[in-house]
Amino acid sequence: MSHQSSAAAIEITGLRKTYGAANGQPPKDALKGVDLTIPAGSIFGLLGPNGAGKSTLINILAGLVRKTAGQVRIWGFDQDVNPRQSRAAIGVMPQELNLDPFFTPRGALDMQSGLYGVPRSEWRTDEILALIGLSDKADAYARSLSGGMRRRLLLGKALVHTPHVLVLDEPTAGVDIELRQMLWRNVRKLNEDGMTIILTTHYLEEAEEMCDEIAIINHGEKIAQDKTANLLGRLDAKTLVITPEAPVSGPLPEIPGVQGQIRPDGTLCFAYRRGQISVETILEAVRHAEIHIRELATEEPDLEDVFVALTRSADAA
Ligand SMILES: Nc1ncnc2c1ncn2[C@@H]1O[C@H](COP(=O)(O)OP(=O)(O)OP(=O)(O)O)[C@@H](O)[C@H]1O
Ligand SMILES: [Mg+2]
Repeated sequence: MSHQSSAAAIEITGLRKTYGAANGQPPKDALKGVDLTIPAGSIFGLLGPNGAGKSTLINILAGLVRKTAGQVRIWGFDQDVNPRQSRAAIGVMPQELNLDPFFTPRGALDMQSGLYGVPRSEWRTDEILALIGLSDKADAYARSLSGGMRRRLLLGKALVHTPHVLVLDEPTAGVDIELRQMLWRNVRKLNEDGMTIILTTHYLEEAEEMCDEIAIINHGEKIAQDKTANLLGRLDAKTLVITPEAPVSGPLPEIPGVQGQIRPDGTLCFAYRRGQISVETILEAVRHAEIHIRELATEEPDLEDVFVALTRSADAA
């Protein structure tokens, strides 16, 4: 199945979702006209605060939520025109646990393979059980699995039909460090083998490490989309951290455009803008204040800083 003509795995235009009023709650515009193109072959991060609309978008891709308006193409197939093909092209690991407690992992994977019309000779149940580290739990009831194991089983279910696009909605929430690393290794492997990966996570370090490209949504609107490296480059804030030879107690030298601060560990940090201040200016002021430098380091902004800056300025607007 390689109908895909353009280089986009997902093309979304003008996507809107309004949840109807219910239980005394007013209607909710969860997506307010989102355009989003996700390149084939990428590991793509969809980030945003709680309630931003990430799961709504993903559940529309999965066919679990009906969109209010807009167009969704998955692997080149319009969801409304070619529902069967677009559904076959994507596998979704949902955020919510929706496992039947009376199924075993083996049973759940076999069942899912059947639902997706995978011919029995092509069932990959054992391979997937090994991939998600549940071979030894293959015949245990889902209700006896731990939370992390259940989440891994959801990942397995998303993979039975070998989709072109794999979507993971907070795959590592509540998963311990070892399993998290295993999960990311698996995801990387699947991506190297050609699968496009879309993920949401609130662990921004993970997104920074894993994703080639990132979109940030806030209040149902896309507020940024860029290659991860470009996104990180948007903030030109830097911090110079100096470990002095001897403890410094007094006020730090005043340098225009620089915020100096003594950290609890005794290091001196100077926050500045890369475009405005040179490191030399700071060093000169430090030497002039007769502070002797033992060690020197700089700190770059990380994805968390960028995320906070972008969502904050969108909220203020
Ligand atoms: N079934 C529903 N009925 C009514 N409102 C809903 C429903 N599902 C989600 N919402 C609302 O739509 C908005 C977007 O929710 P969504 O679950 O898409 O956010 P999210 O970005 O996935 O958040 P989180 O990071 O917490 O998972 C929220 O205001 C939420 O309350
Ligand atoms: Mg969500």
